[in-house]
Amino acid sequence: MFSTNTSTSLAIETASQWLKRGGLVAIPTETVYGLAADARNEQALAKIYQAKNRPKTNPLIIHLSTPSAIEGYAQNIPKSAYNLAEHFWPGPLTLILERHPSLPKIVTANQESVALRIPKHPLTLELLKTFGGGLAAPSANRSGRISPTTASHVKEELGNKVDYILDGGPCEVGIESTILLLVQNKPLILRQGSITAEMIESVIKQTVLIREQLNSNRLSNISKLSSLSSLENIESPGSHLSHYAPELSLFLINAETLLINVRDILENKKEKVNVLSFQPKPSFFNEECGIWIEADKYSTQYARQLYAHLRQLDTHGTCCILVEAPPEKEKKGGEWSAIWDCLSRASTREF
Ligand code: TXA
Ligand code: MG
Repeated sequence: MFSTNTSTSLAIETASQWLKRGGLVAIPTETVYGLAADARNEQALAKIYQAKNRPKTNPLIIHLSTPSAIEGYAQNIPKSAYNLAEHFWPGPLTLILERHPSLPKIVTANQESVALRIPKHPLTLELLKTFGGGLAAPSANRSGRISPTTASHVKEELGNKVDYILDGGPCEVGIESTILLLVQNKPLILRQGSITAEMIESVIKQTVLIREQLNSNRLSNISKLSSLSSLENIESPGSHLSHYAPELSLFLINAETLLINVRDILENKKEKVNVLSFQPKPSFFNEECGIWIEADKYSTQYARQLYAHLRQLDTHGTCCILVEAPPEKEKKGGEWSAIWDCLSRASTREF
C-alpha cells in the first residue's frame, strides 16, 4: 500500500530533515499517531512536552527500527525482552527496561526505566532507518485528549505546533500499544492493548499480571448500574490513570438500560444525546436527537474505529456521550479488555 515511490521518499526525507534539525514530526504507527522528536536531543524533547502540554513527570516511549538497537537505550536486558522483541516487533508491544545511562533524563522523566518499541508501519520504519536513531513519541494529541488515528486528527489536535505530519493513512490497530514492565521479577502489564497477557505468556512461559486487574473492581461496578443518575455518582475508577477523554461527559451503559437512558435525556431533560451502540439506530432517534453510531461487533474493528467514533460524537450542543458497554467475557486481557480500559479512562473525568 505504501510503496516507497517518489512522493513518499520525499515525505520521509523531509520528515527526517525536520527531526535532525530538532523539529517535531507526527508519525503514523499501527496503533495511533505519535509526536516524534530525536530521542537524544534534549531541546527537541522539551518541545514535545510543550506542544502536548504534558506533565514533565510523564515519560516518553522511544521508537526504534531494529531489535538490536535496544542495547543503546537499555541495560541489563533480560532474555525475555529479546524473545518478546523477536515475536512481537514490529508491533504494538512496548517494553519497559532499565534505562541506558547515556539517555537524556527528560526522555524518561527522570525514571530509571525506559519504554521501547518498534512500530509496525512501513513509512515510520523507513523514516527510522533514514533518520538513523531512536524517536521519542507520545501519542500526538494534547495531553489528556483522545489519541489521533488519522493525519487530520493530528492537525485538529496540534495545528502548527507540529513541524511536519507524515501521512500514513488511518491507523490499523487504533488503540495504544500494550505496555509491559520487565524490570522486576513478575512481568506486569501497565497498559492493556491488542497484544494480550496470554500472547505474552505463551512466549516467555511466565505468568503475566495486569495492573488494572490487580486493583480494580471497575467491571462489576459498571455492570451493576442501571440509570444515568446512578452513573453520575460512580466513584472514579482508576482516577490515578491518565485520561483519554472527549470534552463531553462519556457514560458507559448496559445494553438493557441504554434506551431508557436515551429516552430519559431526550424526553425529560430535553437535550440531545450522542450514542455508540451495538444496536441499530431505533426509529424514534431522528436527526434532531443527536448522533447514533452503530458499533462493529468484532473487537479488532471496534478498536480500529473507536477514537474516530469518539471524536465524531464529541460535538457541541449535546448533553453527553452514551457508550453501550462492550462484552466482558475476556477478562484475562483479551482485546475487549483493552477496549474496556480505553473506555473507562475516557469516562472518568478529572476536575
Ligand atoms: O501505541 C503507543 O504506545 C503510542 C504510539 C505513538 O507508539 N504511544 C503512546 O505514547 O501511547 P503515550 O506517551 O501517549 O503513552 C505512553 C505511556 C504513558 O502513559 C507513559 O506514562 C508510559 O507509557 N511510560 C513511558 N515510559 C515509561 C516508563 N519508563 N515507565 C512506566 N511507564 C512509562
Ligand atoms: Mg497518549
